[in-house]
Amino acid sequence: MSTTIESGPLKYAQLAPLPPEGEIHLYDFFPKVGDIEIEIGTGRGMFLIERARIASNAYILGIEIKKKWAYKVSQRCAREGIDRVRIVSGDARAILPRISPAMSVRRIYFHFPDPWWKKRHAKRRLFGSDLIKDCLRLLKPGGELFVQTDVEERAREYAACIANFSELFLDADKGLRFENPYGARSNRERRAEEDGIPIFRILAVKSMRASGGDL
Ligand SMILES: C[S@@+](CC[C@H](N)C(=O)[O-])C[C@H]1O[C@@H](n2cnc3c(N)ncnc32)[C@H](O)[C@@H]1O
Repeated sequence: MSTTIESGPLKYAQLAPLPPEGEIHLYDFFPKVGDIEIEIGTGRGMFLIERARIASNAYILGIEIKKKWAYKVSQRCAREGIDRVRIVSGDARAILPRISPAMSVRRIYFHFPDPWWKKRHAKRRLFGSDLIKDCLRLLKPGGELFVQTDVEERAREYAACIANFSELFLDADKGLRFENPYGARSNRERRAEEDGIPIFRILAVKSMRASGGDL
């Protein structure tokens, strides 16, 4: 029996790649060899695709709440034979806590995670202590947490939030104005660069002595 695919948002709700129910085991997606990376809020997917092309050892999980974009990016990866990328659609705040195993991820990226300017929208923000705890659980010792934004005040808030976690090290000498070290740019990053808008970046490294257990 054939099912009809609706049009518009409903269509994407039906087509978007969803995560499995319950626990999401990374080794069901990716081989144990190689570096597992996670990008939160992949948007139109430019970073993910460029990164997979440049880093031949990287296996990348993208999490994107917008079903349309999750679908389009996953379709593009399939079309272009980019098989080291998986996209799942959903709220990263609900998905990250379900991911296992602990200490299996080499890098976690947040590119321009919070587009809201107004203070009254602060509660909508994605990047904060709860997500950092989830990231810490998943990162390997020596693993990297990267976040970038074009709002300087926000970058300072992110850095202050990260600094509350003794297992994460920020290179204070680096400041917030260093080059993206990953050889790939997100759509928003490229646009900011083209428009001459400064970008503020934070790279935190998980302590080699930290565990992946409850933090
Ligand atoms: C400002 S856009 C940046 C998109 C992309 N990272 C870039 O730099 O071009 C923020 C992205 O995060 C996604 N997003 C927002 N909240 C999210 C959440 N709770 N879980 C997953 N993705 C989320 C949005 O749908 C959007 O694609």
